[in-house]
This record gives sequence, structure tokens and C-alpha cells, in this order.
Amino acid sequence: MSADSRRDSIAVAITGASGALYAIRTLAALLERRCHIELIVTEYGRRLLRDELGETAAVEKLGDYLAARYGEGVHRGTFTLYSNRDLGAKIASGSQDCRAMVIIPCSMKTLAGIAHGLSRTLTERAADVMLKERRTLVIVPRETPMSLPQLRNMVLCAEAGALVMPAMPAFYQMPKTLDDLADFMAGKILSAIGFPHDLYPRWGS
Ligand SMILES: Cc1cc2nc3c(=O)[nH]c(=O)nc-3n(C[C@H](O)[C@H](O)[C@H](O)COP(=O)(O)O)c2cc1C
Repeated sequence: MSADSRRDSIAVAITGASGALYAIRTLAALLERRCHIELIVTEYGRRLLRDELGETAAVEKLGDYLAARYGEGVHRGTFTLYSNRDLGAKIASGSQDCRAMVIIPCSMKTLAGIAHGLSRTLTERAADVMLKERRTLVIVPRETPMSLPQLRNMVLCAEAGALVMPAMPAFYQMPKTLDDLADFMAGKILSAIGFPHDLYPRWGS
């Protein structure tokens, strides 16, 4: 899919933590809202897409997979896929025009790299750019239990300005399916980066 300068550009990184369903629901919701996605899928992110969703969700077929699962509305948006090794990609630069970046799910390894400003991979570098440019960075970590270094890395990211939003869907919405849980996380992320949505019922409604 090709980029269009009039679209809202959002960077999304999928890393090798469990929770591929959260990632694809968030991607589909952004595409339905006409976004252009600058997409990074790490080596282990690619593996987790296939392990948790099946071969049809392999990164090379992601556009077709999203359309089959969530409907043709995903074609309202576009995405460009980058290698996590491509430190020359445009999202590695502060001059890029993404107003927000979402890392979903975020492995403890990538979390550590961001917390310490290492910029070894495109995901880490693009996240570093969001922090230095004071733009919105949403990190969705997934691990349990967490070690003290992992907890400290979340604090470091929050202190640097990231929004740390662990993959912890709520149950007061009475979810019935895994898709309900994914809708909840995708909805929280959309709210955090300023998109209206009805992915889950509001409390009290
Ligand atoms: C099946 C599988 C599940 C994994 N789940 C997690 C997880 O939930 N959280 C995590 O931090 N790492 C998890 N890992 C380990 C990461 O994939 C590993 O640390 C990897 O190096 C992360 O690299 P990346 O951040 O570049 O994707 C998992 C690995 C595999 C193979």
C-alpha cells in the first residue's frame, strides 16, 4: 500500500512479545480511520504473528489478512513495512512526520533498549525520536511476572515521556471473546493518540 501526504501518519512496531491479536486489532482500527502506518515488525514479532494467528497472518500477507478478518474498511488506510534493521528508514529521523508511535506488544528486550536510549534497531531508534521530539510514544509491554530491571525500565520510559500501557484488558465490560479483549486494548490506544472510537462500551453507558 502506498503513502499519501494528507493522511495522519502513525508509526506502529510489533515486537516478539505475546499478544499479536492486540497488534492486528490496533492496526486495523488505525487503517479504518484512514491512517498511513509506518510499520515495523521485528524478527520475533514476525514469528509471533504466525505462532499466535496462523500462517495466513504472516507479515507478507498482512494486508489481505486484515481485510479478511476486519473487512474492506482497512483499505481506507495504507501502510509501509520496514525492516527492524533499516536504521536509514525515514522514521529513524526527527524530520519524519509521524505524530505518534505505538509499540504493541512490546517485548522486555525492546523496552530495555528504549529505556536506555540504545537505538540499536529501527524500533528503538524511532521510539527514541518520538521521545526527543516530545511526540506521543505508547508502549504496550507484555510479560508476567516482571523482574525489577523490567519494572525499572518501564519507569525510565514513563519518566522520559512515554505512555506505558500494559496489555491489561478490563473485565468489567463483560468480554465474551478474545476479540472483545483486543477491542478494549485497541480502544485504549486509540483514545491515547486522539482518535474517537466505539471499540468498547463506556463505563456507565
Ligand atoms: C513464543 C514466544 C513468546 C514470547 N513472549 C514474550 C513475551 O510475552 N514478552 C517478552 O518480553 N518476550 C517474549 N518472548 C521473547 C522475545 O521474543 C525475545 O526476547 C526477543 O529477542 C525480542 O526481540 P524483539 O523485541 O526485537 O522482538 C517470547 C518469545 C517467543 C519465542
